[in-house]
Amino acid sequence: MKKVLILAAGLGKRMNSPRPKVVHEVLGKPLLNWTIDVAKEAKADEIGVVLGHGAELVYPLIPSDVKVFIQESQLGTADAVKAAKNFLNGKVVILYGDVPLISGEVVSSLFESKANMTILTAILETPFGYGRIVREDGKVIKIVEENDATDDIRKIKEINSGIYAFDSESLVYALDRIKNNNKKGEYYLTDAVEILLAGGYAVETVQVKNSNSVLGVNTQKELATLIKNVKDDINDALMDAGVTIEDPQTTFVGPDVIVESGAVLKPFTFIYGKSRISSNASIGPETTIVDCTVGNNTFVIRSDCSGSVIGNNCSIGPFSRLRPGTFIEDNVKIGNYVEVKNSHLSKGVKSQHLTYLGDATIGEDTNIGAGTITCNYDGVRKNKTFIGKNVFVGSNTALVAPVKVGDGALIGAGSTITDDVPAYALALGRAKQLNKEEWVLKKRRDSSDEK
Ligand code: UD1
Ligand code: MG
Repeated sequence: MKKVLILAAGLGKRMNSPRPKVVHEVLGKPLLNWTIDVAKEAKADEIGVVLGHGAELVYPLIPSDVKVFIQESQLGTADAVKAAKNFLNGKVVILYGDVPLISGEVVSSLFESKANMTILTAILETPFGYGRIVREDGKVIKIVEENDATDDIRKIKEINSGIYAFDSESLVYALDRIKNNNKKGEYYLTDAVEILLAGGYAVETVQVKNSNSVLGVNTQKELATLIKNVKDDINDALMDAGVTIEDPQTTFVGPDVIVESGAVLKPFTFIYGKSRISSNASIGPETTIVDCTVGNNTFVIRSDCSGSVIGNNCSIGPFSRLRPGTFIEDNVKIGNYVEVKNSHLSKGVKSQHLTYLGDATIGEDTNIGAGTITCNYDGVRKNKTFIGKNVFVGSNTALVAPVKVGDGALIGAGSTITDDVPAYALALGRAKQLNKEEWVLKKRRDSSDEK
C-alpha cells in the first residue's frame, strides 16, 4: 500500500493572515492543492489530509477521493500525524501542506526507499527557519529546529524538507514516544529520527537535486518569492516550447494550464485553472482567463473569462466578460462591455457592444445589436432565451425570458420582446413615435407672452 499523508492543520501564525495558510494561492491554485496533485502524480493508492485550523475554509478545496482527518488542537507535526493513526499502514510518505513544489517523481521514488524512515533533505544557501540535518560520521543523527539550534547547528546548510517516507510500524513506534520538550512545546515529527535510531531502526536521507523544490511557505514574503520563482519557471518552459511571452514579468500562467506553441501572451495576462490556449491564439494585454479553452487564431483582448469554451477565429474584447457555462463556436465576435453567462453562441454570431446574454442559445450568423439585454431573471427563476439563425436583433432590445425568436426574424431597435417571435417576422415592441409639429416654437412663444 502506498499512502501519502499531507499535514495542513497548522495555524500558519507567521503568515499573519485570518485565513489558514494552505488556502493561500500560488498562481491561482491553493497551496494545499499543489501538494494533493503531487500525491496524485506520485500514484499514491490513498491520500489523506490532516486539517485543523480553519478546517471549514480548507475543506471545500479537497477532492472527494482524498480522506480528511481532523487534528483538534495544533500541538505539532507529530500530533498531526497521530490524528490520522487509522490511515497508517504500508509505506507512508508525509508531505507538509506548505511545501508545494516537490515533484511527483521524487515522491514516487520515496515509496521505493528501504529504510524505516527516509528524510528528503536539501542544501539551502539561506537555511534560516528550517530544521537542520545533524550528522555524525556522515550519518544523520537528528534534526534540530531553528529555535532549538546552537550557533554551530545554525550554520548547517542541509535542511529538512518536511518530506519523509516511513514504514507505518516504525512511524507508530516513534509517534508513541515523541515528547514536547522543546522551545515551542510542540510534538515534533522530526524527533522521530533520534527515537528510531535509538530503537535500532534504520534512518536514511536522500538529498533532492533541485533545492527550490522544497521551499516552504511560512510568511507572506516567502509566498511572494515562491510565486515569482514558479512563475518564472513556467514562463521559461513555455517560451522554450515556442510560446511568445512579450513581458514575462507581468505574465502569470498556472501550473495546470496548457499553452500551445505559436500562442502569444501579451503583458498583464493571467491564465489559471485548467485552461488551454491553442496555437496562434493571442491573449491580452490585461486579460484574465480561468478554466477556459481558447481556440486557434482567437484574440482575447482586455477581458475577463472563466469557465468558458471559445472556438477558433473568434475575437473577444476589449472589455468583455465571459462567465461560466459559456460556449462559443468558431468565428464569433464579442465586443466591448458585453457579458455572456451560461450561453451557447453558434458560429458567426456577433455581439459587439454593451450587451448581456444570460442563459441564451443563439443560432448561426445572428447579429445582436448594441445594448441588447436578455432579461433572464424574474426575481425567482433563471429563464432561457432561444434565438434562431440569421436573426437581426435591433439595438437596445430587451428580451424578456422565457422567450423564443425564430430563424431569420428581425427585431426593431428599442423593442421589449415578451412574446415569441415567429421565423422571418418583424417584431416591434415599442411605443409608437408621436411628432407634434412646431411644438417647441409654440412653447417658446407662449412663455415669452407670459413675461
Ligand atoms: C517544519 C519542520 C522543519 C522543516 C520545515 C520544512 C517540524 C517540527 N519542523 O517546520 O524541520 O525544515 O517544516 O518546511 O516538523 N502542522 C499541522 N499540525 C500542527 C503543526 C503543523 O498539521 O500541529 C502542519 C502545518 O499545517 C504545515 C506543516 O505541518 O503544513 C509544517 O508546519 P510548520 O509550522 O510550517 O513547520 P515549520 O516550522 O515550517
Ligand atoms: Mg512550514
